Amino acid sequence: MILFKKAADINNWLLKSKAAGKKTGFIPTMGALHQGHTSLIHASKQAGSISVCSIFVNPAQFNDANDFDNYPSTIEKDIDALEKAGCDVLFLPSVSEMYPAGMENAKNYDLGYLETVLEGKYRPGHFQGVCLVVHRLLNIIPANDLYLGQKDYQQCMVIKKLVELEKINTTIYICPTLRETSGLAMSSRNMRLTAEARKHALTIFETLSYLKNNIKPGDLTALKQTAIDSLTNAGFKVDYVEIADAGNLDIINHWNGNKKLVAVAAAFLGDVRLIDNMLL
Ligand code: PAJ
Repeated sequence: MILFKKAADINNWLLKSKAAGKKTGFIPTMGALHQGHTSLIHASKQAGSISVCSIFVNPAQFNDANDFDNYPSTIEKDIDALEKAGCDVLFLPSVSEMYPAGMENAKNYDLGYLETVLEGKYRPGHFQGVCLVVHRLLNIIPANDLYLGQKDYQQCMVIKKLVELEKINTTIYICPTLRETSGLAMSSRNMRLTAEARKHALTIFETLSYLKNNIKPGDLTALKQTAIDSLTNAGFKVDYVEIADAGNLDIINHWNGNKKLVAVAAAFLGDVRLIDNMLL
């Protein structure tokens, strides 16, 4: 695996590889890698692309300073995992390399409704920061294909919108959420959970499964409340549990039985915020 720290260097290398007729698959990450991340590398490898992974803990997308300060970093292990997964190129930039002109006066992306609900509502500014970094990364890494995880359902929609707004010539592939055998969605933030908290953490998966197994056409208010109660009883501080239109994230309170839905949840266990989702 080749490691680049400078934007100009990786950009030159990729432009040469493109001129030689090779396709590039890109997997942006914030490190503390787990099998969910490496599954995205595998998907890119399967498409026969040069696989490029980036590791950059993006300060612009953290609305909570405590979350940023405590974000796990396991760079030696990450490099090992990427080598094992057959990743071809790693981009590991510094903050000044990513934001040479600073993060102030950054462009504002017109994300519309997506920025006002769920993660957009509970993490103000978060998706602007995600767009800022992904836009910059895609300028440095002109990828044919971009691999994202369904684990961050709303982020996938936001990045699709970014690619549309900025007319970026990259195809997005959304890969399934990898879970522990318990059902807990793999997440870098799980590293911050104690063994005891981990046991409670899987209640998120159980709650989403409960929604999937019990949803019926009609009013959904009582079903959603049961879900919120089960998380609260397991010790979570709930930001939201919602059922939404899988296509546009409109919140659904009354289901006609036809529309494709997704259940989404975000909740704190101690000071660790976990999110998950499930197509119903
Ligand atoms: P990060 O949380 O490191 O996730 C990087 C990619 O891995 C995202 O596309 C995410 O959806 C995917 N991923 C995370 N957990 C997964 C799981 N259990 N199964 C499958 N895929 C999973 O998401 C970000 O970083 C950042 O916001 C980023 C896009 C890199 C911009 O900074």
